[in-house]
Amino acid sequence: MADAAHNLSLEEMDRQSVLHPFTQLKQFASGELGGPRIVEGGEGIRIRDTKGNELIDGFAGLYCVNVGYGRGEIAEAIYAQAKQLAYYHAYAGHSNEPTIRLSDKILRKTPPGMSKIFYGLGGSDANETNAKIVWYYNNVRGKPNKTKFIARRRGYHGGTVFSGSLTGLEVFHTAFNLPVPQVLHTTAPHHYWQAEEGMSERDFSKKCAEDLNSLIEAEGPETVGAFIGEPVLGTGGIIPPPEGYWEAIQEVLDRHDVLLISDEVVCGFGRLGSEFGAIHYGMKPDLMTVAKGLTSAYQPLSGSIVGDRVWKVLEDGSDKYGPFAHGLTYSAHPCGAAAALANLEIIERENLVGNAKSTGAYFQKALKDAFGDHPIVGEVRGEGLLAAVEFVADPARKTRFDASLKVGAQMAAACVAEGLISRAMPHGDILGFAPPLIVREGDIDEIVARTKRAVDSVTDKLVREGSLKAA
Ligand SMILES: Cc1ncc(COP(=O)(O)O)c(C=O)c1O
Repeated sequence: MADAAHNLSLEEMDRQSVLHPFTQLKQFASGELGGPRIVEGGEGIRIRDTKGNELIDGFAGLYCVNVGYGRGEIAEAIYAQAKQLAYYHAYAGHSNEPTIRLSDKILRKTPPGMSKIFYGLGGSDANETNAKIVWYYNNVRGKPNKTKFIARRRGYHGGTVFSGSLTGLEVFHTAFNLPVPQVLHTTAPHHYWQAEEGMSERDFSKKCAEDLNSLIEAEGPETVGAFIGEPVLGTGGIIPPPEGYWEAIQEVLDRHDVLLISDEVVCGFGRLGSEFGAIHYGMKPDLMTVAKGLTSAYQPLSGSIVGDRVWKVLEDGSDKYGPFAHGLTYSAHPCGAAAALANLEIIERENLVGNAKSTGAYFQKALKDAFGDHPIVGEVRGEGLLAAVEFVADPARKTRFDASLKVGAQMAAACVAEGLISRAMPHGDILGFAPPLIVREGDIDEIVARTKRAVDSVTDKLVREGSLKAA
């Protein structure tokens, strides 16, 4: 496909003009990596590129296209809203009907005690908003020193300055002068790698809580404002919490008057087989971050959901500070809200939360059956329709592959060769899966079969190259 004005193909035009996120810039721009893959359409769980390849999307974009591709109903809702009222702002008490109806709907799904929603455009800015809300809250309460945030190593909370600091993965910090000094990180809740030999999950959860407690005490509880975590840790490796984890963490937070932010950007709206991760694990968040599954990515929209205890203080802030001086031009965008309403209606009508639970259980079992005893698989884990397979050179000794082999990336590439998109997670040799919530058991069989062929082919290659001893 060449453009008449420049005589350039779309691929060349892209390489000359687009700065891609999380991409090896030099090699990409030179064409050495091939691509870009230009995606031109999608239907259900599949996407199609301009070269005619059709791929099963086992990661729902970036765990977001939960109702699947090609939902005309959501497109119609956006179109109708854009014709009626494409935009008006929400400052100084202005509103629009889809935002009002959406807020009412969301608050009927959240755990008890949630009060109001502030809207943004994506998960990162929603976490920026959460940080400002925590600071505001503590200023109103006369505790201006409670400014620090604690997140987990390997947590992911976004890519902007503060949310990127909350993220606990070095690759997002190095060369960007992050994290900012108000952010600290505590133990990653990964029993497989972090627990001492023979330690039970419950004891490991206690240890995580003790580590958090020690950090808060070392910093001084009067300086710590909030703890943020994903109910199931996502981008850092898809790690469900060890048994008793959230309960143990909550106890420490309560003791030190530290707020809990449940980052539900991935888990929210059904992925785990419950409406929210906080409900799934009995968490008691003060704030919740939502994005992705809120609109299934048909429009950019996020929310910071504020609980009663924080809301009451924000209200008190009016006397002290006047208007709540935080906002984005596109806060409460009517087209985003219309997309979210149509998306949530599909999730309800098709019982996709229930499907995530039942088909999710089928998926977890199918992955364990296929890879539980595989010679280079250390752990198969997940919850609902969120799963990971972690590769190690020697499962008995828990030794990692040499990072230069890029085993995770090789696995993901081999999956693509089988017509399946999975995701090589950025930390370790981990293949992640988060298919659209519309998947059925037959789709799961196909996903697991393709993954098995891919994993076996990379394993054989590693043996042939001498990077791995034959089993
Ligand atoms: C848990 C979590 N929080 C926040 C974000 C950031 O969201 P966004 O990329 O929409 O800014 C992500 C993105 O993957 C996420 O997984």
